[in-house]
Amino acid sequence: MLGMGVVGSGVARALSQKSDSLANQIGANVCLKSVLVRDKTKQRSFEIGQNLFTDNFDEILERTDIDIVVEVMGGEHPALEFILAALESGKHVVTANKEVMAKHAPDIFAAARRKDVRVLFEASVAGGTPVVSPLMRDLVANEVVSIKAIINGTTNYILTRMSSEQIDYKTVLKDAQNLGYAEPDPTNDVEGIDAAYKLAILSTLGFRAQVKDSDVFCEGITSLSAKDFQYADELGYAIKLLAISSRINGEVQARVHPALIEKDQMLAKVDGVLNAIEIETDLTGRVLFHGPGAGSMPTSSAIVADIINIGRNVAGNAAYLDPVRLSESIKVQSISDLQTKYYFRLEAKDEPGVLAQIGSALALNKISISSFIQKGFDPEQGTAELVIMTHRATERSVQSALKDIKDLDVVARIGNMIRVSE
Ligand code: NAP
Ligand code: HSE
Repeated sequence: MLGMGVVGSGVARALSQKSDSLANQIGANVCLKSVLVRDKTKQRSFEIGQNLFTDNFDEILERTDIDIVVEVMGGEHPALEFILAALESGKHVVTANKEVMAKHAPDIFAAARRKDVRVLFEASVAGGTPVVSPLMRDLVANEVVSIKAIINGTTNYILTRMSSEQIDYKTVLKDAQNLGYAEPDPTNDVEGIDAAYKLAILSTLGFRAQVKDSDVFCEGITSLSAKDFQYADELGYAIKLLAISSRINGEVQARVHPALIEKDQMLAKVDGVLNAIEIETDLTGRVLFHGPGAGSMPTSSAIVADIINIGRNVAGNAAYLDPVRLSESIKVQSISDLQTKYYFRLEAKDEPGVLAQIGSALALNKISISSFIQKGFDPEQGTAELVIMTHRATERSVQSALKDIKDLDVVARIGNMIRVSE
């Protein structure tokens, strides 16, 4: 096992506590033979024999009594090189590494194929909630039409509290850090990067062509304010950080951003640190996967399941079938081509003709207003807050309209623009 932090300690605990059950299911014992860490003297949350620790990856690579390498160290490098080297030396790999899988899946699959070994990565998306295996196996008869998901527990926790308690982002982030949900450096979670890695993996499996993290448009949650939640609620919406990908005329569109979602939709009701992934396909229609997206023991469930699956192959000497066949390439659409409804919150002077000017900027960009509300008046600034909902428009015209509106003398500030999930 490479790494013994939050996830690795859970895996070691599960392997130890369930050794009899695993032996029954696999038909052979599973033994933890060696654990790579940076600091061999550090205390771990689950104790194993001190002699199992090494800080030298080559020791693991050279051992012929190791069949499976479990990579739970995280980060792109050297995890990628270790995974490729393990496969090259004929060892099977189980990994929880979303960054490596989002960026390098085709190279990793090719290396596994060359050496006739397996690579499984259920834990890389949604922790303990199965979705990678179902996409590769149970839904394989389907064409995936779209994936819509909440796949970052930290941000879902923050948004849930901002919504229910009407408090601002910074206050909840501090609480989330104190509770251990958010990292001291929360960038990957709050800027949507973690969700983009996971969406890239799901999209690659769903559309059977590589969708890289850099193909995913990504916008985080830091610009959301308590007011957005109040107004969204009044309009019948929740706000969630959604990861959405869809196949449109043979092309893929993949995006992570905060979205208004109607309160009666299932994803709108997914609260706290939980994850949910809704997959729409041609044969099944919509399927929803819902459960814990992180944590030591839930994530160990996904990793140990992968170990059991590979273990059965190893013990039974069974040939293994390539789980994913990727086509050469698929065109990825720019976010500018997105067509959806939009929410705008603006601060503008409260005087005659203001609405006409804003309406005209929208009309010139071919954007039609579906509703308009004027909220509180700020006597110090002499401004009122305007909330505008649009009919369907393209992102290209919305960005152009927002530029025009920002340039109007009567507009003090554009508070926020949030896309609506249809
Ligand atoms: P973590 O707590 O930071 O643990 C990382 C472990 O890897 C540590 O034991 C560390 O050793 C070791 N390590 C890191 N770089 C190393 C290097 N260059 N050489 C040797 N050892 C190295 O991380 P984690 O939360 O367990 O996450 C592990 C992976 O699982 C990541 O890919 C993460 O995205 C994924 N994942 C995590 C969760 C979750 O709930 N945490 C859920 C799903 C997936 P030392 O202890 O000696 O520093
Ligand atoms: N940081 C991730 C989350 C957990 O908040 O969902 C690991 O995938």
